[in-house]
Amino acid sequence: MHAFQYRGNELYCEQVPVKTIADNIGTPLYLYSRATLVRHFTVFDQAFASIPHLTCYSVKANSNLSILRLLGNLGAGVDVVSGGEIYRAVLAGISPAKIVYSGVGKTREEIRYALTSGILQFNVESEQELEAISSVAKSLGIQAPVALRVNPDVDPKTHPYIATGLKKNKFGIACNAALGLYARAARDPHLRITGIACHIGSQITEITPFVDALERIVAFAAQLKSMHNITVHYLDIGGGLGITYANETPPHPEQYAAALTDLARQSGCTLILEPGRVIVGNAGILVTRVLYTKRTGEKQFIIVDAAMNDLIRPSLYHAHHELQPVVKRNAPCTVADVVGPICESGDFMAHARSIEAMSPGDLIAIMSAGAYGFSMSSNYNSRPRAAEVLVDDSSYRIIRRRETYEDLVRHEQE
Ligand code: LLP
Repeated sequence: MHAFQYRGNELYCEQVPVKTIADNIGTPLYLYSRATLVRHFTVFDQAFASIPHLTCYSVKANSNLSILRLLGNLGAGVDVVSGGEIYRAVLAGISPAKIVYSGVGKTREEIRYALTSGILQFNVESEQELEAISSVAKSLGIQAPVALRVNPDVDPKTHPYIATGLKKNKFGIACNAALGLYARAARDPHLRITGIACHIGSQITEITPFVDALERIVAFAAQLKSMHNITVHYLDIGGGLGITYANETPPHPEQYAAALTDLARQSGCTLILEPGRVIVGNAGILVTRVLYTKRTGEKQFIIVDAAMNDLIRPSLYHAHHELQPVVKRNAPCTVADVVGPICESGDFMAHARSIEAMSPGDLIAIMSAGAYGFSMSSNYNSRPRAAEVLVDDSSYRIIRRRETYEDLVRHEQE
């Protein structure tokens, strides 16, 4: 469910015509619906209401301060993967006591920053990282709260770039090795064991891999207790619940929760969840304007003003995003490649897509772009990054202004 719907021939975001915003703010433009964000977070979080849990929104999906503040006000904690994400989260008013910190390459500076901020838990990904955390905590004269990110070796059946819980991936620690590391951590006066973490991948559209992963970490918690008398308080199951981009039928958050709650309740632990895409993915679109159309050889091209620097998902993962005319003219459909201005053949929004015939000046909505859209954008080809706008019912406001040429060179010196 999202709030980008047609009224007659016009696409609206909540109560505002998308065209009005595009005409006023310009394109390319990221447009988010506040009502959709609130709804997605609330439905997800409420689905776990019957058990102790903390929903830690995954900042990497969309790290805009206004979005973080909105989710924080609804009670969200956050999952971060860098010092920069901690900075953003704290600036947006998220309590550090609700921050979990994942990632295979935390630097000592980032570890120190996280420790002095007072985060809830490090999700530790290797033996050397555990040592680094212990030594930084020692230098600060404090104890670091740690969970080990175990690798449950489950196949999430998703794109290989975003599968993370397989033995062959760089993430986590194999369960056998983790047992010994937990025992070491328990003896270390500068470490305090808080939980067990895992994250098996992203855009997962089946329930079974999540259940398998939780079963494995619950069994692992029992092993820790029986073998080393170690008690954990948090089971962090990561993120990964998929969304509908085209025809996928991912489980509804309530089905997802129903499959996990009994197991989590029996464990006696608090469940931590790290959803990203399912909260913001369908709460945002990228609005782009047609610059030109052209036919070369046997191919029809629609050249738009958004490019792979704005939305890299089609180029990087061959991801599918629906394209919808912002104002339907009910013209006959053509089959076209929708491409951006960047000087690479890999710069495309869609290949061989059937779409209403377009003319220069027409607007296209690139759907489901709220997650890993703006947050993965860059300045490649010296293109200023797009503006971001948040719609709230019948009003809207800029939550990140469009970058200028001066912004492009701001940090450079001659
Ligand atoms: N927790 C951890 C430790 C993660 O690595 C991720 C995503 C999440 C949570 C959130 O996963 P989500 O609920 O959003 O699936 N750029 C890719 C997705 C990369 C996901 C990386 N990790 C894309 O555009 O599809």
